Amino acid sequence: MTAPPSASSPAPRPPEAVRRVACVGAGVIGGGWVAHFLARGYDVTAWDPAPDAEEKLRRLVDAAWPALEQLGLAEGASPTRLTVAPTLQDAVAGAEFVQESAPEKLELKRSLLAELDAAAPPGVVIASSTSGYPMSDMQGEAADPGRLLVGHPFNPPYLIPLVEVVGGRSTDPEAVAWASRFYEVAGKSVITMDRELPGFIANRLQEALWREALHMVANGEASVRDIDDSITEGPGLRWAFMGPCLTFALAGGEGGMAHMLDHFGPSLKSPWTRLEAPELDSALRDAMVDGCDEAAGGRSIAQLVAERDQGVIDVLRATGRLPHGGGRHTDRGDATVEGETR
Ligand SMILES: NC(=O)c1ccc[n+]([C@@H]2O[C@H](COP(=O)([O-])OP(=O)(O)OC[C@H]3O[C@@H](n4cnc5c(N)ncnc54)[C@H](O)[C@@H]3O)[C@@H](O)[C@H]2O)c1
Repeated sequence: MTAPPSASSPAPRPPEAVRRVACVGAGVIGGGWVAHFLARGYDVTAWDPAPDAEEKLRRLVDAAWPALEQLGLAEGASPTRLTVAPTLQDAVAGAEFVQESAPEKLELKRSLLAELDAAAPPGVVIASSTSGYPMSDMQGEAADPGRLLVGHPFNPPYLIPLVEVVGGRSTDPEAVAWASRFYEVAGKSVITMDRELPGFIANRLQEALWREALHMVANGEASVRDIDDSITEGPGLRWAFMGPCLTFALAGGEGGMAHMLDHFGPSLKSPWTRLEAPELDSALRDAMVDGCDEAAGGRSIAQLVAERDQGVIDVLRATGRLPHGGGRHTDRGDATVEGETR
């Protein structure tokens, strides 16, 4: 059941007319959102309570900017259009859209979203980057829960197109439709879900893979490097352009998915996967950290970020989701230009 739109809330500006975005929480994901919105030509105001937040945020934007230039900046896009506000209230005062990316703690999210709701102009949609909390569990303290919804991105939000949009029990369906359209205009690829599901879609799938990887390391069955290679040298190459269902349909040859299921269906019952999460004790933690250090082979996090960014851009370009040569200059409102990354 969804609550009816609150009669007192004015309609937000049309998604195409939005110029000012507020990002609250400016760590890995909030900073990534800031970089994305700046590259799309928005004025961005950010707020984060950490004393060194502004310095870190500007470093993140600077590190992302070369990749964003390759993707093609919107007309007038510039890191100088970022303002770091002294308070949460200042950050959202003139905002036409708010993206919350604070730590994944339920109580913190509940009170922060209520605070944002009290401070943001009436009617403005507020989205949470939460990785898995249903909005129904987070919107209870807000005076106008109808404008609160989930806009779940993938790291880094300035390169990975997908955003999963879903409302909670009290979210106005018009706010969900507005946000889905807004993200599209802002250059994202949107999946709008009509019901809440813990972990949404992609994180449920990622989590299943991740649990199995942790089990294999915990039991000494595979190294971190073997696990990563098994994906990057294997199914990961297909998944960049064809999802797990369609690629498995091709595993059935000319018989497609029907043959695939008839042939391999019985093996679904084989104990190939564990799925229950392993105990994340200190031995497993150390094995994962050491394994990642070994796999990084001396490369710093900054080097790995640059490598990842270039890799994603190369894949997007190779699969026709970027204009070749980059440098696309377009008005944000034209969301259907050739090569749009959706
Ligand atoms: N890291 C990922 O891959 C990923 C992907 C998708 C979604 N998310 C979600 O994004 C959100 C942020 O995660 P992150 O990885 O950026 O974490 P992070 O630790 O990198 O950043 C969190 C930031 O929030 C700030 N913060 C602390 N208290 C705050 C408050 N009361 N109000 C506003 N900001 C506050 C911190 O100072 C920090 O800069 C979480 O909900 C997470 O589940 C993370």
